[in-house]
Amino acid sequence: MDKFVIRGGNPLLGTIKVSGAKNSALPCMAAAILTADEVILENIPQVRDIETERKLLTSMGAEVELGYGRAQHRTSIQCAVLSDPVAKYEIVKTMRASSLVLGPLIARTGIARVAMPGGCAIGGRPIDLHIKALEQMGATITYDHGYLEARSPQNGEGRLKGTHIVFDKITVTGTEDILMAATLAEGETILENCAREPEVTDLAALLIAMGASIDGAGTSTIRVQGVENLHGARYRINPDRIEAGTFLIAGAITGGDLMVDCCDPAHLGSLIAKLEQAGVRLDLGTDSIRVRSEGAGGSGSTALKAVDISTEEYPGFPTDMQAQFMALATQSEGTSTITENIFENRFMHVNELIRMGANITVTGRTATVRGKSPLQSAAVMCSDLRASAALVLAALVADGESILDRVYHIDRGYERLEEKLRGVGAQIRRMGDVFGRK
Ligand code: EPZ
Repeated sequence: MDKFVIRGGNPLLGTIKVSGAKNSALPCMAAAILTADEVILENIPQVRDIETERKLLTSMGAEVELGYGRAQHRTSIQCAVLSDPVAKYEIVKTMRASSLVLGPLIARTGIARVAMPGGCAIGGRPIDLHIKALEQMGATITYDHGYLEARSPQNGEGRLKGTHIVFDKITVTGTEDILMAATLAEGETILENCAREPEVTDLAALLIAMGASIDGAGTSTIRVQGVENLHGARYRINPDRIEAGTFLIAGAITGGDLMVDCCDPAHLGSLIAKLEQAGVRLDLGTDSIRVRSEGAGGSGSTALKAVDISTEEYPGFPTDMQAQFMALATQSEGTSTITENIFENRFMHVNELIRMGANITVTGRTATVRGKSPLQSAAVMCSDLRASAALVLAALVADGESILDRVYHIDRGYERLEEKLRGVGAQIRRMGDVFGRK
């Protein structure tokens, strides 16, 4: 398994580019199921989860050409015939977001067979709200040997029925899944208590380009007028706000001067506010942010200051930035409290940071970080995507050479991370097969 070897101590200097958003690319690729025409997506990130999505779609009969190395990373998807509308366990077990094919499959073919996602490192993550909403739209759901089978009315011959759905809890992929199902349903669907994440708005923009009738994406109430058919489209997905946020913290924690380019500052409001509170200097451009700080080396007025965060649904502080912000808190003067409200088990990075010398205690869903603590290099274990990003950030400021194991977790959601960081002065290299290429 690949490892990263990181020698800490270098401030990051220069320009680093942000790739397309993984969490937009996944639902947008699933949306191609809704039409027999070709859908062309640009700015698709070169990460492992996209490769998994390609496998998932081709296993059902789709033609997918990932456009890596092409201009705009242009990717073409055509689901002319879905010969085998089944999301197989071998694929679903490697990526929970596979369940995003459920809504599009039942809307397009009347039948969907999807392996139930098992447990996940960061929490139980059930899909009960997806299922409940589909049942409200007239679907019949049965369970069979670890698979869920959903059929539209008249035993899969009829269309789903538009209706009024109120999600019990805000769910990102739940909103996306049902939004896609509603585009081909009969009549109007009103979705309430929806997720307002930029990825939902991005998906809705693609669906509208495909001929869907949608109002209110990005707010907590979305209205969808079902149509008979959708057609092909070409669409450029958003930049990855979580990758951009990770780079902002990389610049801040290393005491660098970094231009984070090809991002959308408007999607990073809550993080920007917290970083400025911590004493980090940020200059916002239209599609870039310059970050400057004294990092761990600062003192007095230039020192990083402790800040409390509490993760919320968008536009609140993103749970996908919690671990990275914790790494920064270990280098900030004072005590920070970090509360995780979205997932019940998202502190897997804490013990690894403690192994590097951090002073952190956890009570329930709140971590208390006492800074600043000089970090030492260590051999640490990656556990999930964002926890792993936090370990990379810590290693960038640790004294000595750290070894991060199981970096396949990072490859799931960060495109060529070590190359990008090396490009702005980090001492980082990968050991082992690169990305499974023999
Ligand atoms: C999306 O996951 C993202 N993944 C996650 O990013 C992100 O952490 C999460 O939203 C929250 O922002 C993708 O977009 C592919 P949820 P999702 O449904 O949709 C509970 C990353 O690092 N819930 O909004 O799966 C659930 O257990 C990943 O890129 C139910 O109880 O998250 C959680 O506690 C990690 N029943 C809460 O709601 C349901 O049917 C929010 O989950 C659905 C969700």
